[in-house]
Formats: sequence, structure tokens, C-alpha cells
Amino acid sequence: MKFTQRVSQVTPSITLEITAKAKALKSQGIDVCSFTAGEPDFDTPEHIKMAAKLALDQGKTKYGPTNGEMALREAIAKKLQQQNQLDYEAKNVIVTNGGKHSLFNLMLALIEAGDEVIIPAPYWLSYPEMVKLAEGTPVIVTTTAATDYKITPDQLQQAITPKTKLFVLNSPSNPTGSVYTPQEIRALAEVVVKNDIWVVSDEIYEHILYEGAKHLSIGAVNEAAFAKTIISNGFAKSYSMTGWRVGYLAGPEALIKAVSTIQGHSTSNVCTFAQYGAIAALESSQDCVQIMLQAFTERRKVILEGIRSIEKLSCPTPNGAFYVFVDISQTGLSSLAFSEQLLASHKVAVIPGLAFGDDRCIRLSYATDLDSIQKGLERLADFVKDL
Ligand SMILES: Cc1ncc(COP(=O)(O)O)c(C=O)c1O
Repeated sequence: MKFTQRVSQVTPSITLEITAKAKALKSQGIDVCSFTAGEPDFDTPEHIKMAAKLALDQGKTKYGPTNGEMALREAIAKKLQQQNQLDYEAKNVIVTNGGKHSLFNLMLALIEAGDEVIIPAPYWLSYPEMVKLAEGTPVIVTTTAATDYKITPDQLQQAITPKTKLFVLNSPSNPTGSVYTPQEIRALAEVVVKNDIWVVSDEIYEHILYEGAKHLSIGAVNEAAFAKTIISNGFAKSYSMTGWRVGYLAGPEALIKAVSTIQGHSTSNVCTFAQYGAIAALESSQDCVQIMLQAFTERRKVILEGIRSIEKLSCPTPNGAFYVFVDISQTGLSSLAFSEQLLASHKVAVIPGLAFGDDRCIRLSYATDLDSIQKGLERLADFVKDL
């Protein structure tokens, strides 16, 4: 069977492959320590589930507006105004089937053949594939541990050509956990504005911050930056709502209308009663976010100490999200070989950095319980020692 050029140029997910192998071992009763999770291991907070249950009982089971329930769009606009200093109204917001879908919609609305999209590497693996699906050209800018895997204003400037349409910024970052400081964000905003390009700020991990790290949205830098900014966000990571599939895109009204046209002919509205859970997430107490953050803080300390005690492994201090990005290059193995051998011989599952555009590293998620983290670290240390 012949498929389109569009789909054949997309790289299948290495993450899914290794996760599937780990699951297969587990199903055979083998004790696997998995550091692969891209989602919090907590249940969705009870009050959010209650709100969705109530919505079901109240018959919120029909088609809804393509752009999302008005109450949710208003709650998101209020959140963006109050928490992020972004002057959006409901008309600037579209509710999508998760953050992934909001970014995908954006690429389809903004990018076409010939357009270049600047993506700093290591990157969240879907960004380049989405650009390719939209027939654009991903322009990968490699960053290193020396800058905590953050793109510098000079690097951004040098990557810009007359074809550049969009710059993808993700802070806190998956896979590195890096957080751009407000000063760094301001410097990048200056380059964006000077060159009149768009920036999409993927802020899905904005609440998962450590050691006093501050999240500044690039759109909040000044009016000129605001005019060139598009925000992508969602409920998955902050509220442990990965399976709910609720995210959003915020930006200039004309762009939201274009995205609405695409969504209107593809997915229509997001699951109506799930949106009521999202309203509760925004409008109720934010204690649940803090409780999860406390657990992540404790695990982060353990995992960083563990990694740093293993000779040949190193990583910069990640100030956000729930990942550590570990340099394994001193072992002499590629990230794929390291990950495959580690799983086969010591039953520890990690994601090879190759999936994120960096073959020198592996990604460990600490969205798992402390016991598994400790056991996994011991096995990892044994594995590296025996190499
Ligand atoms: C950086 C980043 N952006 C966006 C997403 C998409 O999240 P979701 O579609 O679950 O809302 C993820 C999920 O792993 C992510 O890590």
C-alpha cells in the first residue's frame, strides 16, 4: 500500500518503542524500573473529577462550541491575565484536545511549504514532526550543557533567515528540565521582535518549578513581544489530567479564527464534560498543584544526588518539569545502545536522547515513586560500573 509523502517523512516514535519493550517485560512478571513516564503518577484531584461527574449528570454530553465552552475560555483568559500578565480575552483562546493538538493546529494554520521553524535541540520530539506534517522545514539549533541546554539570543539570530516563520520556545523544557530566566526570556524576545518572526511558547510545565525558578511568558515582556506570541498550554501536567485531553492555544484573534476553521472540520469540540473538569481545575484551590510539586521536589533531590554519584554520568541542574537529562557520552555508548543494554541487562527503562535530537544523553523522568527511583538508580550505577 502506498502512503503519502507527508506521512513517510515522519520519524516513528523511539519513545513509544522503548516504553513498549519495558511494558512487555513487565507483563512477563519481570521487575522493571521505569524512568520513561511523561506524565505525573498521581490521580487527577478529586474536586476536578467531581466537576466532570456533575457535568455528566447535568447532561453536558452534547456537541459544544468548536472553540470550547465559553466558561472555560473565560477562565483561561483570566488565568493568562492574572498569572502570566498576558492581556487575552475569551476570543483569543481556543480549547484543544491537549497541548499536542494545540501545537499541531497552530502548525497547520501558520506553516506551509518553504517556511522555516526554529527548534532548539534537545526538543520535545513532536515539534519537528508536526512542522514536517505541515510541510514546513524544521531548523534545529543545537544547544549544550554549557548553556543548560538553552538557546542563546545569538544562536537564535544566526538561525533566522528570510524564510523563518516561527520560533518554538519551551520553558520549563521537556526533555532537559531547563528553565529560561526572565532575563534570558527578555533577550530572546528582543530578537523575535527585531526580526518580526512568530514565537510559540509551550508553557505546559509552567507550574513545575524548583529552587525559586521563575516562569516569565515571552508575551509578557512588552507589547511588541505580545503581538508576536502564541501560547500553548494544557491541563495534563499541572493537574495530572493527561488522559482528559484538554489544552489550549491563545494568541491574536485572527489566528484563533484560522485554528477554529481547522478544528471545526477535524475534531469539532473537546469532550464537553471534560471541559467542566478543566474549569474546576482553574477556579478551585491550587493546593493540589503544590502537593504534587512537593513530591517532585523530594524525588528530584534523590535522583540528582544519585546521578551525580555515578562516575561517567553528569547533568546540569534542571529547575523545572520532572526530567533529568543525563550526559552518558563518557561511557562511549550511543544513547540508543545505552538504553537498550540497560533495559536488557539491568531492567531499567530510560529514553534515549536521540529521540530528542541529542545522542549524547538519556532522559530520566522522576514522575514515579521514590522506591522505584532508588532501586533504579542502584541498578543504573551497577550497569555503568560494569561497562
Ligand atoms: C513539552 C510538551 N509540550 C506539549 C505536550 C503535550 O501535552 P498534552 O497533549 O498531553 O496536553 C507535552 C507532553 O508530553 C510536552 O512534554
